[in-house]
Amino acid sequence: MESSDRTPQDGAGRDGQPPDRSPTIRTIAMPADTNPAGDIFGGWLMSQMDLAAGTVAALTSHGRSATIAVEGMKFLRPVKVGDEVSLFADLVRLGRSSMQIRVQAWRRQREHAGSEKVTEAVFTFVALDAEGRARPVRQPTAAPG
Ligand SMILES: CC(C)(COP(=O)(O)OP(=O)(O)OC[C@H]1O[C@@H](n2cnc3c(N)ncnc32)[C@H](O)[C@@H]1OP(=O)(O)O)[C@@H](O)C(=O)NCCC(=O)NCCS
Repeated sequence: MESSDRTPQDGAGRDGQPPDRSPTIRTIAMPADTNPAGDIFGGWLMSQMDLAAGTVAALTSHGRSATIAVEGMKFLRPVKVGDEVSLFADLVRLGRSSMQIRVQAWRRQREHAGSEKVTEAVFTFVALDAEGRARPVRQPTAAPG
């Protein structure tokens, strides 16, 4: 892909429906992820989203990368203990060293089939070299092993 503002398929689902594909990460919200009031921490969900975005960043940059920014996060619904949480991450813009990755989080109550969107945000990752400096995303890397 050329370095540009163009937006590849972002994998957005139909209105009110999650994307029609496997999530980048799927997990269960557990009691250890709650605050003292028994609700799931927003920070736990953000960390799951960061992990999902990091998966796409690693596949895109073929190496190390780090989160530099997160934009536009609003929590629309609470997540409850036992919910199945699905994270869908999609590359939406590729810069020189940066990657903008849109992440949607959906919850499904354990005993019910329907899902609802909890939040979404755009994470920006920067590809890093061995010294932790920004590097071009398309820099050739040695084959593993
Ligand atoms: C990632 C890091 C090495 C980049 O260093 P830097 O000096 O800011 O690098 P640059 O100015 O060359 O910017 C690198 C890219 O980030 C983009 N960028 C910088 N600030 C940004 C911001 N606030 N939002 C979005 N993108 C940003 C730049 O536009 C550039 O993109 P491009 O190469 O595609 O054009 C440095 O900021 C860093 O180490 N940050 C900490 C990352 C980290 O530890 N994250 C986890 C926190 S626990």
